[in-house]
Amino acid sequence: MKEKKIAILGLGYVGLPLALQLSLSYNVVGYDINDIRIKELRKGIDKTLEVSESLLKKQQKNNLSFTTQSKEISDCNFYIATVPTPIDERKKPDFSALKNVCKTIGKLLKSGDTVIFESTVYPGATEEICGPILEKFSNNLKVGKDFFLGYSPERVNPGDKVHTIDKINKVVSGQTHKVEKDLLEIYSNLTSGEVYLAKNIKVAEASKVIENAQRDINIAFINEVAKICTKINISSYDVLEASLTKWNFLNFEPGLVGGHCIGVDPYYLAEKAQNLKVRPEVILSGRNTNDNMVSFIGREIIKKLPSSSSCLFLGITFKENVPDLRNSKSLELMNYLEKKNLKITFYDPFVKRFKGFKSLAKKDLAKKKFDGIILSVPHKKILFNFKQNFLSLLKEEGFFFDVKGKFRNKKITNYWSL
Ligand SMILES: NC(=O)c1ccc[n+]([C@@H]2O[C@H](COP(=O)([O-])OP(=O)(O)OC[C@H]3O[C@@H](n4cnc5c(N)ncnc54)[C@H](O)[C@@H]3O)[C@@H](O)[C@H]2O)c1
Repeated sequence: MKEKKIAILGLGYVGLPLALQLSLSYNVVGYDINDIRIKELRKGIDKTLEVSESLLKKQQKNNLSFTTQSKEISDCNFYIATVPTPIDERKKPDFSALKNVCKTIGKLLKSGDTVIFESTVYPGATEEICGPILEKFSNNLKVGKDFFLGYSPERVNPGDKVHTIDKINKVVSGQTHKVEKDLLEIYSNLTSGEVYLAKNIKVAEASKVIENAQRDINIAFINEVAKICTKINISSYDVLEASLTKWNFLNFEPGLVGGHCIGVDPYYLAEKAQNLKVRPEVILSGRNTNDNMVSFIGREIIKKLPSSSSCLFLGITFKENVPDLRNSKSLELMNYLEKKNLKITFYDPFVKRFKGFKSLAKKDLAKKKFDGIILSVPHKKILFNFKQNFLSLLKEEGFFFDVKGKFRNKKITNYWSL
């Protein structure tokens, strides 16, 4: 065991896998304000389905513990914050969780401590927002002199069992050479991938937020292409397949862009740009295009299904193979269609109930037939034996909407995809 003692604050999709993995090399205490989450983690239950129950239990017998009490992390010398950085209803960065966690850490700070941020922010936030709050709530300590800042953007991709936290390349940055050295050591123990030292904290912050903004913009372009293809009555997937035979054509697919990263982080970059009097036209245009895909797909469905049609909506989480419903555009699409008077029943292997909507009951499987089936989020568990389990529930004259084009080569009649 190394002499560093690490606290991870915020045990969600990012914080929990990080705490678990770091506990293989260090003493780690995981802290969260959510009492229920902590109780579950102590029992080995991870509702996000990102870590294994056996490892969670095993590490708690070794050097990992979980708490809601800040005094229990007061003897740590490294604090890593992995709290949410969402947007508010005006699509502006919401720094409230980040500011709160800084207050918590500030009160615990001791001379020589290091505070590392992994939450996605815009360049400058760590030093301009977090540093001053930490200082204010500390016992007269000065940032950069008595305690130090570091930043390491998180790249994990929930539901992705290939690019896992123990393998992916990591960017680190620190306020001083000592912090840089410490972060290189900590994160080299975390991952077998490359640990890249960024020139400074702002560079590391910017590197993360542009990764997600770039992805958003590329998808937006393909979504625009998909709209054009729909009007021409050709499949955008067929077009992409042809274009991809060129060596430098980029591989992006059309679709709904939800969740708390790709659909959120560009607004952080846009906010920074606007603060600097740079108009983030490309960034916001991409966001706008992607957000509008809900109503575009919704209108396409309505064109083919008359009012009061019965509809089976498959997959409501924000993406495949995760239980996360935050900022789910499929959920928005389901709401949109309901408002247009379609009679919706939904099925999602990760979500048993959702307020205001009927879920597909086992007893429905035998007798119920639908006018429309909308495959919005093709979870592996939905795709398994799809024709028999779900497509068989479509009326003979019914319409199948395959948002992600999974069955476009299967010669299904009354078929629509982007
Ligand atoms: N989830 C991803 O795919 C992903 C990937 C890369 C980066 N990120 C970034 O990582 C950060 C965390 O995201 P997440 O998806 O893990 O969030 P999450 O909502 O899954 O988890 C955040 C946790 O922080 C806790 N929390 C909130 N305020 C707190 C406080 N003041 N003190 C202690 N705990 C607090 C919450 O209770 C929750 O358990 C965000 O900035 C996000 O943009 C997320």
